[in-house]
Amino acid sequence: MSRFEQTFDHFLLEHQERYNRTYHFLILMDALISAAKRIQYYYLTGALKGNLGLAGSVNVQGENVMRMDQIAHEITIHYLEKSGRIIQAVSEESKEIITLNPDGRYFIYFDPLDGSSNIPHGLPVGFLFGIAKKNLDGPEDNHLRAGKDYIAAGMFVIPTGTFTLGLRDAGTWRFHIDETMTFVKPRKMVLPQAPATWELSFNAANRRTFSERARSWIDEHEDKYAFRYLGALAGDFHRVLANGGLFMYPAIVNHPDPNKNRPEGKLRLMYEAAVVAFMCREAGGTAVDERGMPILDIQPQRHHQRTALYVGSRELVEDIAHRLKEE
Ligand code: AHG
Ligand code: MN
Ligand code: MN
Repeated sequence: MSRFEQTFDHFLLEHQERYNRTYHFLILMDALISAAKRIQYYYLTGALKGNLGLAGSVNVQGENVMRMDQIAHEITIHYLEKSGRIIQAVSEESKEIITLNPDGRYFIYFDPLDGSSNIPHGLPVGFLFGIAKKNLDGPEDNHLRAGKDYIAAGMFVIPTGTFTLGLRDAGTWRFHIDETMTFVKPRKMVLPQAPATWELSFNAANRRTFSERARSWIDEHEDKYAFRYLGALAGDFHRVLANGGLFMYPAIVNHPDPNKNRPEGKLRLMYEAAVVAFMCREAGGTAVDERGMPILDIQPQRHHQRTALYVGSRELVEDIAHRLKEE
């Protein structure tokens, strides 16, 4: 008889009971896990079986050709709607905010498939999400929450079968999928204190386009650490969370073609930057933007707002934040 590993469901049930919470969150997480498994199925049968067309499109039924990120979006919305627990959803794949159930309990901000340049190669992509709860004590006044007001944030790295979830004030946990497609074996993620394993992760081809402050910091520190870059935030952050170090996507301010500058950064605040910043905080790290201000404190003005991102080990993030704030 094989040993029973603790499953994600049992882990979460225990968590909810320990903190005297309702079961609504279990129902929502079940929806997200169903979505992630189905996205992974399409990814494996599309990307890895050679059924992917140009721009990562898959022939779903007959001649109905869809891009992989659109498929991932539709799968996710389907399960979220069935869960009945989501008031509104913000998805990278939808220009407008999607209202699902006005009597629901949560707001969700998600990117159903991040790292699109990896799709045609079958390399890892991410499904990232942040969750906030409606104001139970009075009128709902703000659906676009800052990361510090998320109750949970997580990511699936597809198709590797890993799932990482940060729970407010209760740590960040990593799970692995087993032979029965069940997420098992919770492991609490704590950023390593010792710099021996720390890694730097950023698009090195962009370095001359960064601000003088970011560039000078990189010049001074890069020799001390290993360098890793996959080009998908979930995969890159997955490593930094385990090994420590710093992932950054600085503002692009010195591009030779000024039209290609991105002074606001590239990554999206609500469903990319704040999601990893939340998991990082729960694992003992931190995250800042180009002004050196905490990512989790930024109050979004627009649901698709972008930001620069520096996330990882507290010591490194605080050091570069100090440089970014210099006059
Ligand atoms: P997208 O939303 O277009 O899939 O972008 C992916 C993101 C993120 O996952 C990754 O960290 C970064 O963009 C990579 O961008 P570069 O190709 O500019 O390095
Ligand atoms: Mn994205
Ligand atoms: Mn996407």
